[in-house]
Amino acid sequence: MKGDLIIAIDGFSSTGKSSMSKIIAKNLNYTHIDSGAMYRAVTLYAFQKGFINNKKIDVNSLIDHLIDIKISFKKNDQTLKNHTYLNGIDVEQEIRSMEISNMVSPISEIPAVRDYCVHLQQEMGKNGGIVMDGRDIGTTVFPNADIKIFITASPEIRAKRRFLEYQQQGKKISMYEVLKNVKERDYIDSNRDYSPLRKADDAIEVDNSELNLDQTVDKVMSLIKELK
Ligand code: DC
Repeated sequence: MKGDLIIAIDGFSSTGKSSMSKIIAKNLNYTHIDSGAMYRAVTLYAFQKGFINNKKIDVNSLIDHLIDIKISFKKNDQTLKNHTYLNGIDVEQEIRSMEISNMVSPISEIPAVRDYCVHLQQEMGKNGGIVMDGRDIGTTVFPNADIKIFITASPEIRAKRRFLEYQQQGKKISMYEVLKNVKERDYIDSNRDYSPLRKADDAIEVDNSELNLDQTVDKVMSLIKELK
C-alpha cells in the first residue's frame, strides 16, 4: 500500500474513532490526528480566558483571539503517546473533562472556529500518510480523501462506553448525564448549519455497536486493504 494516503474516519462521539484511528495509524506507520482534540483545546482556551460564563460564549472575543491559539500534537516522554498541546502546554487530560465535553459542540458550531481548525487540519494532513478522525474530515477537510470510513453505534452503547471510561478514571458522573451529553452533542453536531456531521456519499459505514475495539480495527483494516 502507498505510504501517503489520506484516511478519513468520521462518526458520532464515543464510537471509539480516536482509539481505533490511533491503532490503524500505528499499523500503517502513519500519523494520527485527532481533530476533535483541536475543538476541545479551543474550548479550554475560551474557559481559561473567561470567554465562557454560565454556558454563554463571548463569541466576538474568542474570534478576536483565535490568532493567539497554537495547537500542536507531540509525543509525551512519559506516556509515549501523542498528546495535545495548547500554546506549548500539555492539555491532554484537561480537554477530556465533562466541563469541556459540555461546551465543545457549541464552540465548534462557530464558523470562524471551524475555519481555523479546518485550515490547521488541512496543513497537518496535506502530505498524506495520515489517519484523521472527526466529524467532517471526509466531507469538508479532505473531500478527496483516499479512504473514508463512517463509524456509528447506538447512543446507549456509546454512553455506556464513555461512562465506563469516567468510572475507570474515578470520576463520579451518572449514566444519565453521560447519555444526555452524547445525545445533545449528536444533535448539535448533526444540525449545525456550517459543516455538519454527516456521512460522505462515498464513505463506508461501519456500525460497531456489537464490536469491541480490536474487532472494529480488524474490520476497518480489512476495508482499507480491500479499497487500496
Ligand atoms: O471527537 P470528540 O468527541 O473529541 O470531538 C469533540 C467535539 O468537537 C464534537 O462534539 C464536535 C467537535 N468536532 C467537530 O465539530 N468536527 C470535527 N472534525 C471533530 C470534532
